Amino acid sequence: MAASLRINCKPVSTAFRVNPASKCSRRPFSVSCAAANGPQKRYSITLLPGDGIGPEVISVAKDVLKLTGSLEGIEFNFQEMPMGGSALDLVGVPLPDETLAAAKNSDAVLLGAIGGYKWDNNAKHLKPETGLLQIREGLKVFANLRPATVLPQLVEASTLKREVAEGVDVMVVRELTGGIYFGKPRGFRTDENGEEVGFNTEVYAAYEIDRIARVAFETARKRQGRLCSVDKANVLEASMLWRRRVTAIAEEYPDVELSHMYVDNAAMQLVRNPKQFDTIVTNNIFGDILSDEASMITGSIGMLPSASLGSSGPGLFEPIHGSAPDIAGQDKANPLATILSAAMLLKYGLEEEDAARRIENAVLDTLNKGLRTGDIYSTGTKLVGCKEMGEAVLRSVDSQVHAAV
Ligand code: IPM
Ligand code: MG
Repeated sequence: MAASLRINCKPVSTAFRVNPASKCSRRPFSVSCAAANGPQKRYSITLLPGDGIGPEVISVAKDVLKLTGSLEGIEFNFQEMPMGGSALDLVGVPLPDETLAAAKNSDAVLLGAIGGYKWDNNAKHLKPETGLLQIREGLKVFANLRPATVLPQLVEASTLKREVAEGVDVMVVRELTGGIYFGKPRGFRTDENGEEVGFNTEVYAAYEIDRIARVAFETARKRQGRLCSVDKANVLEASMLWRRRVTAIAEEYPDVELSHMYVDNAAMQLVRNPKQFDTIVTNNIFGDILSDEASMITGSIGMLPSASLGSSGPGLFEPIHGSAPDIAGQDKANPLATILSAAMLLKYGLEEEDAARRIENAVLDTLNKGLRTGDIYSTGTKLVGCKEMGEAVLRSVDSQVHAAV
């Protein structure tokens, strides 16, 4: 069977579609454009390279976007802005106002990674991670799509047995702007016994559950039509409401088969029999954990992209891996998750499906040629660095190869 990187999911429907805000140029044609037909489309993209390996992978993804655009009649206007630890070093805050403003004014945002040892002991408001939460909140991107697809070329890279990993294609739909990450009250205090206490609040309003549930049902509908809602409704009130609301929204989607699972069981089932899952919807913190777990089934977290979408405005696209400070600046990072995030940007953010497919095919073609960064290397393949991997993807984009897998 032909395998593809497509996540079996068409651009999001009007229920939660970001406004692609296609800024079609009045100029009928630009000389820098290689595509001969159709009007030149122009989009502004905010690039947030961030920290660690972020700048390396963003630089590769930018080149891939540029070349793909030139072949598809799309012109990108890139603006790089500081965020995370690099912004802390530069201006003393993890998300400068100018960065958020630029992001809001663009058509889509592509983020590398943030964080590093250097800032680990900073006060919370001065942590790079706080900048990430602030931009998610600022862009109101409540729906986080994290596909985990096991590619035939990389089955051996999975830590699970071949028969368990082969063919896995899971989409985790994570609620991204609510729950315990943002809930109040939160903080530190001293209790009546003089004991220091840290506390957070897991809280969901019905509207927050309803809107993420709709995103998830729409997503499942375009995949295999099966949605598993993951919660802890045997213990937590917020989860009890979650289950009730998801069940109510299910009535709008009679064609989607809904099931519910407690999060501890879901964590176990993901490694026991991941193929039972099609689309998973869950809250912010469970989604954080389960998406890391799902990513490992695919062999490397270095392969997985993500899209964060709101009901309007630009989406935020980022690889789900972190800043990997241990390999930063050594040309060892795997740029494929960021390149695939650029493909998600085209598909979900700008509705440029053909351009997205061109990138996905180029990634498959590059893997078919046996090129591997260290994280996905296995005997018999060719070990390459971040730049060489990027150059190979560029060559594939250029040659318009449609990889048959
Ligand atoms: C993720 C990360 C972030 C999160 C951190 C860096 C704040 O783990 O995107 O999954 O917890 O959401
Ligand atoms: Mg995480």
